[in-house]
Amino acid sequence: MSPIKAVKAAYFSPSGGTKRAAMLLCEQFGLPAEPIDCTCQPAKLPAVIPVAKDELLVLALPVYGGFGPRVEGLFSQLRGQGGPCVILAAYGNRDYENALAAAARQMAEQGFVCVGGIAPITPHVSAPSLGAGRPDEEDMPVFAAFARKVLAACENEPLRPAALPGDADAPRKPLRPTGRSRDKERCNHCGRCVRVCPAGALNELLEVDSEKCINCMACRFACPTYAWQFDTTAVRAWLEENFSARRAVEWFAE
Ligand SMILES: Cc1cc2nc3c(=O)[nH]c(=O)nc-3n(C[C@H](O)[C@H](O)[C@H](O)COP(=O)(O)O)c2cc1C
Repeated sequence: MSPIKAVKAAYFSPSGGTKRAAMLLCEQFGLPAEPIDCTCQPAKLPAVIPVAKDELLVLALPVYGGFGPRVEGLFSQLRGQGGPCVILAAYGNRDYENALAAAARQMAEQGFVCVGGIAPITPHVSAPSLGAGRPDEEDMPVFAAFARKVLAACENEPLRPAALPGDADAPRKPLRPTGRSRDKERCNHCGRCVRVCPAGALNELLEVDSEKCINCMACRFACPTYAWQFDTTAVRAWLEENFSARRAVEWFAE
């Protein structure tokens, strides 16, 4: 009998791709799954979110520049008690580089044993033809195989950490610049963008602090009048030219 009784799925997902991939993975475990939405300023979450030893944590993040989102305190509330976790790094068909390794190290520091990692492809917010429709039917057997292997790994006593690719200490590259603007005619000053911005990059006057903004586009997706625009023309052309070939879902488990 599996020692795991339930799944907790903590995710950061401004445009919904990571959340969708995480919930599809959760279905494969065949256990009750509780979603925990961390797409907000970390200070807005409870200071501690405990995960019991007989629960499996699925930590799901989008890849930004080869790492997880650069949000101070992201996922810092999650506390393990020596139980298992898996990292899901969703990416837009370019590459996930160091995202699995960096997140696994953070979770180990917070009391989890990272028994696996998976890197599904999701639509790229800056070039949606990359990863369109994914995860799709072809990906589901891969998710199922990963889930089986993870549940088997959870039976190891003691749990053994999986070797995940990437270098958690690699320097972060600067993100490719994306022009953003707010259409003042459309904007009705409802303030929703200020509230949803996970990086706290917008002030009450709706001015953007470029040092804090991580280009996640949470403002754009939350805006009821479509006032926020991101000019992704240049990055889209680069991505479409170089990274359009379908990538397979890769996974790693102990
Ligand atoms: C600022 C930024 C940086 C990104 N960097 C990468 C990357 O390095 N590699 C990649 O394949 N996709 C990259 N993407 C695409 C995202 O990983 C992809 O769109 C992801 O699904 C977004 O997650 P969400 O739908 O949950 O918001 C990037 C997207 C953004 C907004």
